[in-house]
Amino acid sequence: MNSSLFDLSHATAPPPDIAEALSATAARRGAFGSPLIYAPSLASTNDIASRLADAGAAEGTTVVADAQTAGRGRLGRTWFSPEGAGLYVSVVVRPYDAGGWKPRSVSADTPPLPAVLTLVAGVALAEAIREATGLAAEIKWPNDLMCGRRKLAGILAEASGQGPRLDYVVLGLGINVRAVSFPPEMAARATSIEGELGRHVDRGLVLAGALAHLATARARLRRGEIGAMLARWRELSPTAVGSPVEWRRAEGLCRGTTAGLDTDGALLVDAAGVVERVVAGEIIWR
Ligand code: BTN
Repeated sequence: MNSSLFDLSHATAPPPDIAEALSATAARRGAFGSPLIYAPSLASTNDIASRLADAGAAEGTTVVADAQTAGRGRLGRTWFSPEGAGLYVSVVVRPYDAGGWKPRSVSADTPPLPAVLTLVAGVALAEAIREATGLAAEIKWPNDLMCGRRKLAGILAEASGQGPRLDYVVLGLGINVRAVSFPPEMAARATSIEGELGRHVDRGLVLAGALAHLATARARLRRGEIGAMLARWRELSPTAVGSPVEWRRAEGLCRGTTAGLDTDGALLVDAAGVVERVVAGEIIWR
């Protein structure tokens, strides 16, 4: 990896809370978080991780910032990323590396790799938040982390290449940690771990736990344990069944009731007795 190609002049050693948690979890994290590039502020950690991956950075390379000036969310949205509010993390995953999961081992009804990674990243982050803080984070399809109807964290998976030519996926995690004032347009839909718990939490433990759970998920993908991982996704996403929702299609707004996760990662929705598959976009609770 040639870091001199990029403007990493702001990179510093991670702050003590992050450094301590990383050091305590080194054995569980494997390659995830090694190397870890930390900067107090970056435009978007996903951009830096992608540029590092383009230059050959290994799986597990992680970029962490305390603030982002151009944080991106799904569906072209911006991600609220001021200093002192959350953790902004991007991790390089190379699904088809040597010893990785080969395309020919994938059966017809196995979800495409980026879809699997998106779902299992949500599971990893939910497990990490639960273990590190005790907050019972749940998943809203596909991978929003929720407390009730408010969003705690989001994941932006950005792939380079597709199918057997998939080169890497950058998993970008935005985690609302501290109880801050959200902008008015977000206030009804967003929350934070500390806001929910009413006490201080150790963000280093959340970060280190997420990296450790991603390492475990990666090992399980190699072993082909997709069914078991999607079963855990279903447990952590009770709203994937029986919730009244709306979603947007080219033809307009559709309404229905969630009916579970399909084998390929699509959300099933019962619309007046016809089961529809939602493969992308956003589900809005009614
Ligand atoms: C979502 O819309 O729910 C996904 C939000 C993902 C935000 C994270 S913050 C770290 C990484 N860098 C970005 O610019 N976006 C992701």
